[in-house]
Amino acid sequence: MLRGEMGEPAAQAMRLLEAIGKAYGAERLIKVRSAHVSGISYNTIGEAGLGFLQRMALDDGRCKALTTINPAGMELDDPGKLGISRDFAEKQFQIIRCFENFKARITCTCTPYLSGNNPLMGDPVAWSESSAVIFVNSVIGASSNREGAPSSLASALTGRTPYYGYHLEENRRPNVEVSLESDLRTDLDFSLFGYVIGEKVVGVPFICGGAARPSLGEIKIFGAAAAASGDLALYHWDNLTPESRRYKTYLDNVERVSVDRGELEDALDRLSTGGRADAICLGCPHLSLSELGEIASLVKGKRLRRPLLCFTSRMVYQRALKRGFIGSIKRAGGKVIRDTCMVVSPLRESGIDVMETNSCKAAYYAPNLNGVSVSLSDMRHSIQEALKTA
Ligand code: F3S
Repeated sequence: MLRGEMGEPAAQAMRLLEAIGKAYGAERLIKVRSAHVSGISYNTIGEAGLGFLQRMALDDGRCKALTTINPAGMELDDPGKLGISRDFAEKQFQIIRCFENFKARITCTCTPYLSGNNPLMGDPVAWSESSAVIFVNSVIGASSNREGAPSSLASALTGRTPYYGYHLEENRRPNVEVSLESDLRTDLDFSLFGYVIGEKVVGVPFICGGAARPSLGEIKIFGAAAAASGDLALYHWDNLTPESRRYKTYLDNVERVSVDRGELEDALDRLSTGGRADAICLGCPHLSLSELGEIASLVKGKRLRRPLLCFTSRMVYQRALKRGFIGSIKRAGGKVIRDTCMVVSPLRESGIDVMETNSCKAAYYAPNLNGVSVSLSDMRHSIQEALKTA
């Protein structure tokens, strides 16, 4: 591949992986079970990113491992849903066409593990999108470094990644024990807890405490926040994550920190940048089927008095459609949006200056990336208030 015998895109990708491998002291490359590529929204990568992808696609780049892609900047089947301009839509379609040429799966989601990209425990993968990386490492027990958009694309086009970082057993051992000294009562609590851990811990935390068994939605939103406020890519949670039993034996000489309710409240204050919200935005990371089911049951037969935008993947959308969840949400006045997200779509073009969300990751990125301020609230509370207020 490096000599160009399998085409210029594979050679260029291999040169990048070789450089990364050398920089990190990797002794060899390994095959990956899958890749997940970020940097799909035109809002994020702009003309430079589009030009790079087009050159790679024109030169016949093809994925050599199962590859899924992150959210785009709009819903592909209905760009007008969020008031997206014609120019933006055209650029976005050009990006998607590149990935179609690469033979990637057009999943447009940050939850690839809910859309057919399902590595097994111990499988090496090359994923970008920090919320997906922390999920695949911690909850599934596969191994991925925190790839960037170019390196995950390079792994997609070669089927390889350098053997370093979280692919090595010794780097998966915990170096900090975190005791949770507060109940986590809501999805927002899980998100705040993740955010605080991401700020406090460098390395691999081992979490003890937290009486309740988290739901999929809570564990997703926790990991996304932990990966947003710091550089965490892996955690172990006692009696919860698959490698926790194995790595509990390494806790004797590690640093110890605790997190209490006051720190969660403090993070809440720091992340709250907006006042009264123009819309409730849920789905950072993308909503799962069970989360959409919960929203549907809360609003079924009622009428929302404030705009509600629910973000999910096209695959989960189809399942939710069959179960009647999408219909219930729409009849109540809410919208369910596929393929994009509240941070990478130009939300202000649809008149949203302040959004209410349960996601600390969205609260962290939205003000800078799409200029939207944030008010934080847990999902149930947001919806119940939206049903009450006139
Ligand atoms: Fe996903 Fe967008 Fe949040 S990619 S994790 S919904 S910022």
